Amino acid sequence: MTDPAPANPSRRAPASQQAQVLPAPANAAAIGGSVSLTINGTALKVPLGTTILEAARTAGIQIPTLCHHPDLCIAGVCRICCVEVEGQRTLQAACAYPVTAPIKVSTHTRKVRQARRHVLDLLLSEHFGECYACGRNLNCELQSLARDYGVDGFRFGHPERPRFPIDRSSYSVVRDRDKCILCRRCVRTCIDLQEVGTLEVLGRSDRSRIGTFLEKPLGGVVCINCGQCINRCPTGALRANDPTDEVWAAIQDPAKHVVIQTAPSPRAAIGECFGLPPGRALTLELNTALRLCGFDKVFDTNFAADLTIMEETTELLLRLREALAGRAAALPQFSSCSPGWVKYLEHFHPDYLPHLSTAKSPQQMFGAVIKTWYAHQHGLAPRDIVTVALMPCSAKKFECNRPEMDASGFKDVDYGLTTRELAKMISETGLDLVHLPKSDFDAPFGTATGSGVIFGATGGVMEAALRTLLELVTGEPVEDLYRHADITPRARLRGDQAPGADPAKGRPGPGPAGPAVHRLGLAQGGDPQAGRGPRHRQRQAGHGGHPARRPVQPLPLHRVHGLPRRLPGRRRPAHPHLSRHPPGPGRRHLPGGFLLSYPQVP
Ligand code: SF4
Ligand code: SF4
Ligand code: FES
Repeated sequence: MTDPAPANPSRRAPASQQAQVLPAPANAAAIGGSVSLTINGTALKVPLGTTILEAARTAGIQIPTLCHHPDLCIAGVCRICCVEVEGQRTLQAACAYPVTAPIKVSTHTRKVRQARRHVLDLLLSEHFGECYACGRNLNCELQSLARDYGVDGFRFGHPERPRFPIDRSSYSVVRDRDKCILCRRCVRTCIDLQEVGTLEVLGRSDRSRIGTFLEKPLGGVVCINCGQCINRCPTGALRANDPTDEVWAAIQDPAKHVVIQTAPSPRAAIGECFGLPPGRALTLELNTALRLCGFDKVFDTNFAADLTIMEETTELLLRLREALAGRAAALPQFSSCSPGWVKYLEHFHPDYLPHLSTAKSPQQMFGAVIKTWYAHQHGLAPRDIVTVALMPCSAKKFECNRPEMDASGFKDVDYGLTTRELAKMISETGLDLVHLPKSDFDAPFGTATGSGVIFGATGGVMEAALRTLLELVTGEPVEDLYRHADITPRARLRGDQAPGADPAKGRPGPGPAGPAVHRLGLAQGGDPQAGRGPRHRQRQAGHGGHPARRPVQPLPLHRVHGLPRRLPGRRRPAHPHLSRHPPGPGRRHLPGGFLLSYPQVP
């Protein structure tokens, strides 16, 4: 057999936990590219190296698993997947047994079923959990197995009271060691998928436990709050920090005006909690449900996504201007919309922080707009407004508790809810979400472009920013540019004189900062209309142009966000409510404005 490929030195996972990938043999057929086996009398032919578990699944034969997860490398620690392999003295773990020669496998002999019952009874002897009081009730892999294998008592005993305190120090993740079955899925997720390494197995044998550096609380160690460990935990040992009680209390307080913003992704996912197949959006039914739950206003996060895109695009444009003028600029620019990604950079790559956009995420921008402009317009005191955000990610709970997210003097967003938490609230009210009548978002924050929708896809934020930038620079709708396959006006971006440029005819001439900047009216003496093409001028005058297309408007940021039309210097005077860098007395920041210490739940 060939030696395992050397571990990638750039990965921080200990070598013992890195996935070892065997190089593909030069001539697979010569050594047997496929292999035959028999499972419960069914003959199968599978690629060499396929595990018994994978082979059984191709034949529709189910073998129970706990530590196995398709996203993760094999651990083989729980042994619930044990099977009998003819000729082997002991039972074998199906998830960790690669088939390399013809074998006969039995998946549910008496010996196998007894062994699985033993494994389950041993796990339950260490597992304190009253299922009806657990957030994973009816959605727990351990509970399902106990039901499938007819567990009706605790043969090896059962803890009668909790033995460990619940760690609630993180705004995103709650850890309950009493429910942990030591499957190590969270450890592999954190180190192999996220490359963070917050969680580790501590101790040996019956003292093994999942812990953090120096067994500190989760809120006090390096954790990016991504919640990926929660997604893969088979029990209720890891769960999101659930603020639904506080949200209900705010709704029931007549002095509070409770506003909720909903992101596109949970609107498409929440149907699954009510038995619908994945991907059926319930946006308008959800609006009705939220009003019936008692929220005073229901707004669309896509509105703030447009704000974010205008901010990030403007920032990118200004950085490009600096670069084009030969001055230092942090390029490429990264989006700052993901709080997990921001924290990852803060912890592991602080040298890249200048590359992050200084704009707040849509969630935070929306909160700031509600606590300032909206409060002013409606004669409400910001302290009487409670802003709630329905978001797809547990890191958003942490983001709204970052101390710099309060430039108005009030928390931009008070509570972040996940899809599951909101589904639980709706279930508590007895509403039948799927069959509710549809209703629209409340004005004025129910109108948005498509930019916010593509935020939900990987790379969507930057795609939206680049599309906007393209329109702002060229003055043409991006659809037109795609149609003519002319989407890269590089000559203009470089500051070269465009062929035939004639300022007298409204075409931009070369300037110190390049015509693109002149087009936006951001340079000294720039005319915001200069350089707009004839089609643009036609549309502006109300002639022609496809009615379904959004007309290109002059950049309105100076009016909407208080940006000065002319930039006095190199630094962008971002609006403090929309920027991640508001001045804050006594705050210790890294260069670039990022925090040196992180908040924990008090
Ligand atoms: S939230 Fe993310 S970073 Fe934190 S422990 Fe879980 S997987 Fe690791
Ligand atoms: S916390 Fe969950 S995922 Fe991690 S070892 Fe325990 S049961 Fe497994
Ligand atoms: S699922 Fe195979 S050992 Fe755990």
